[in-house]
Amino acid sequence: MRMDKRQEGREIRSMTAVEMLTVPVEVANSSYEVRIGDGILSDCGEMIRALHRPGRVAVVTDTNVAQIHLPAVIVSLENAGLDPVVIAVEAGETSKRLECVGTICDAMIAANLDRNALLVALGGGVVGDLAGFAAAVYFRGIPFVQIPTTVVAQVDSSVGGKTGVNAPGGKNLIGSFHQPSLVIADPTTLLTLPAREYHEGFAEVVKHAVIRDAEMLAVLDPVDRSGLTALIARNVRIKAAIVAADERETTGERALLNFGHTIGHAIEQTGGYGRFLHGEAISIGLHAALRLSVRRAGLPVSECERVVARLRDFQLPVTIPTDLKTDDLIIAMGRDKKFVTGAVRFVLTRQLGSAFVSADVTVAEIAAVIDELRKH
Ligand code: NAD
Ligand code: GLY
Repeated sequence: MRMDKRQEGREIRSMTAVEMLTVPVEVANSSYEVRIGDGILSDCGEMIRALHRPGRVAVVTDTNVAQIHLPAVIVSLENAGLDPVVIAVEAGETSKRLECVGTICDAMIAANLDRNALLVALGGGVVGDLAGFAAAVYFRGIPFVQIPTTVVAQVDSSVGGKTGVNAPGGKNLIGSFHQPSLVIADPTTLLTLPAREYHEGFAEVVKHAVIRDAEMLAVLDPVDRSGLTALIARNVRIKAAIVAADERETTGERALLNFGHTIGHAIEQTGGYGRFLHGEAISIGLHAALRLSVRRAGLPVSECERVVARLRDFQLPVTIPTDLKTDDLIIAMGRDKKFVTGAVRFVLTRQLGSAFVSADVTVAEIAAVIDELRKH
């Protein structure tokens, strides 16, 4: 892939037949690039070869993506002189568990992959989080490359180095920070997503709009896919800036990315993995966080309704089914990493585009909003 000399800030535009945008993620000791462009999947071998010596690489994917996008990746890796070892897990959130990390590591040991190996995570957020965690612990840490193939993964989960799995007691409770060496996001891979899986990813896009970029709400279109490369880059820039400022979520800045996730994760877990897709649960969580923002932070009701309308445009759920009991959701929230014992830390927003962490939201207020969302 040929690069030209034009630069926008630190971003690089490549002027090949298709445009590739490159967004840097600048974190201490492990900065990397997110490359975004139609068709770049077929260049992944060359890009990975530039980071890695010839030889074996583990390619972790899921059973759906293996059928659709794996062949192009294998051809590209082999053409670049790499020898892929494929490890496919069952598609779906239930694969994001510790046992599957063991399965991946065992398969890598069986293939004689050692500390010099590289792992490629090809798939959605489930594969990225799971395989990224396997890379974090295999031989105490090997490099990995993310090739995200869902909207969630391209705009959010492949960037920032949060890897991990769910525990029986809650979402993402076992994990590690492990930044990828490179992210290769090809928006044409999103064309094969079923409509439901395509739409769910826009919950994280709406989240980015609410916390940092209110103007983005106006450009979101559930039908027109022509601006996807620019839209993905816009989201990656938001996430990259936050991650660069607070890689380990210690200052509160990165916590803003959890807007809608405290209640969203509780809904995902209490509903049983598979009932709601991740983005669907987050969509309901966003609505709850917006309503709490109206109550506690002075967010105008009209702004809350504007965001909810965008979520509905993408056919995302915004109400809580009656069978999910408030008490069960509160208990699930108590297990969430974001629900700090004693004082409930909750991300709110006073206006769209300017979120903050509040330390004094009460459990009673959260329960009241959950009840409100059942009637809405
Ligand atoms: P997913 O990985 O389960 O993918 C959704 C479905 O789409 C799966 O069935 C998958 O097989 C299929 N699929 C993937 N790519 C496809 C393609 N191109 N064509 C056809 N089908 C395809 O789910 P997701 O929504 O991508 O990710 C959700 C996960 O991401 C959750 O576990 C969530 O916790 C995690 N997440 C992590 C972070 C982070 O910062 N690490 C951020 C957001 C979400
Ligand atoms: N998805 C939340 C984070 O990356 O911090």
